[in-house]
Amino acid sequence: MCGICAGFGNGNQIMNVIRGLKELEYRGYDSCGLAFINSKKNDNLEIVKCVGGINSLEEKVKENFSSEIVIGHTRWATHGKVCEENAHPQLSFDGNYAIVHNGIVENFEELKNSIDVPFLSQTDTEVFVSLIAKENGSTFEKLRKACQKVVGAYSLALLENKSKKIYLAKKGSPLWVAVNENEVMAGSDISVFSNKFKNAFCLNDGEFAEISLKNVIFFDKNGKKIEKKCIPIENDGFSYDYSSSDSFMLKEIKEQPLAIRKTYLNLCVSQNNFDIKNFKKFKSFHFIACGTAYHSCLMACRFLQKFCNKPCEASVASEFRYAENVLSKNCLYVFVSQSGETADTIASAKLVKDAGLSIMCVTNVPYCTLNSLADFVLPTFAGKEIAVASTKAYTAQIFSLLIFALKLAGLNINSILKNFSLNFDCEFDVEKFCELVLQSDKVFFMGRGQDCITSLEGALKLKEIAYLNCLGIPAGELKHGTLALIDENSLVIAISTQEKTKKKIESNILEVQARGGKIVLISNIEHNINVAQKISLPCFEEFLMPIVSIVPLQLLAFSVCQKLGFNPDKPRNLAKSVTVE
Ligand code: F6R
Repeated sequence: MCGICAGFGNGNQIMNVIRGLKELEYRGYDSCGLAFINSKKNDNLEIVKCVGGINSLEEKVKENFSSEIVIGHTRWATHGKVCEENAHPQLSFDGNYAIVHNGIVENFEELKNSIDVPFLSQTDTEVFVSLIAKENGSTFEKLRKACQKVVGAYSLALLENKSKKIYLAKKGSPLWVAVNENEVMAGSDISVFSNKFKNAFCLNDGEFAEISLKNVIFFDKNGKKIEKKCIPIENDGFSYDYSSSDSFMLKEIKEQPLAIRKTYLNLCVSQNNFDIKNFKKFKSFHFIACGTAYHSCLMACRFLQKFCNKPCEASVASEFRYAENVLSKNCLYVFVSQSGETADTIASAKLVKDAGLSIMCVTNVPYCTLNSLADFVLPTFAGKEIAVASTKAYTAQIFSLLIFALKLAGLNINSILKNFSLNFDCEFDVEKFCELVLQSDKVFFMGRGQDCITSLEGALKLKEIAYLNCLGIPAGELKHGTLALIDENSLVIAISTQEKTKKKIESNILEVQARGGKIVLISNIEHNINVAQKISLPCFEEFLMPIVSIVPLQLLAFSVCQKLGFNPDKPRNLAKSVTVE
């Protein structure tokens, strides 16, 4: 996982690259670093690295350094623990080359044994850069030859001591480059470009680029020069003010009504290119994703079954890609991903494409790898999501997929959707709820049907940012094992938004209480039952309630996380985009 950024141009590029790296922190934030050519010191290659986020790096370089040629990296550790030695840039054994790398060198042990040089870090990247240094020929030829030996994925930027060039190479992981009259920038996604660039080039697998002052030359895998078309970039909504001290997670939870309104306007009101007729021919649907996006897939299955009477299935991408799948041309394979860069989801999408079948991608980032593979794209309109825990992207995914199902079913219920988009809000007091969680040794989430999916998502949020070991289960499964864990130190959060299962969930609540467990009930339904706390939800149509009922659970995770003194935006051991397997 990790993000890379490079800047080459008139003026000091160090702060430019730092700003770009801040945009890429969603890809990892264990450690970071820069390599640059110091023109005041004989064009020597210098490196600054640190453990922690980009703010720590900024403190370290502030006003101390200046350079026109800079490469930078923000890391999420794959090979080797989090420490300065393992942070990027990595230097070649002879000190001549520095590299920043996003991806994994799968055959790094084998390559390491093949080059007889000392290594200072535990990273696969150090092997890569030393391999480059060991090859013969010009720097570009060395890079090209090394890339031919590497098995795995990479997007990389390479800088040579005393040189006036940066080289880029790409396979698997994304890499963009943009040029204007003053400078050239490259990065793992277009957010690094700010408003200074109007167009960008997207490198394809196997391609290389050579950056010099105000110029970029592209090469194919054989080292032959190629022309590439640039793509206009729209930066609106995809760049954030990082100076704010507020948490992004809370901001994003509160932005959900806006995301819902934007989704309604874009999918139900504006004329867009999304023609539902294209999808009538499919007899079934298979949704594939990871984490929170997988929960959206479970919800989408319910919508398509309910409104379109079509058989549906949902799979976790890391399972799907290695399963004995029976693929069918009558099935539409739908890949759901906030970032569009999740490695397992991309690998699963490629597998279906390689079988010659159609795929649709539901993504929140317009220029992402997943969209480049898609036959159809259903965009979500959540705006940039920075906090690692997905909140507004989740509810926007559910709403987009619901609208998709309703359109496919030919149901025109625009007035209901409009009413929802105007009246949905995110105001819940979770103070007492938070206390109850903190007083309990064990926390469970339970629900039936759509509320079971909300339980899974609520538990994921609490684990992810508050580090509480909790579990989401189908309420009906309580008696099949989990009840053994319930005692007076347990809190069970019951979600109930469906009349059909009202009595059933009441029985489950009584079963918990009979064993001394406390209940927090989250519901818009009249339940005649005593509980430790009830959080009343506003009433909308049942199929809209999953968008409402998840909000107090998002707020709960946020509050518990804050009370325990953790950073809600950057949970430990996670990154926003899981770009490696
Ligand atoms: C949970 C969370 C993750 C992501 C998952 C997929 O809050 O954010 O579980 O949902 O890593 O990411 P995307 O949607 O970018 O494919």
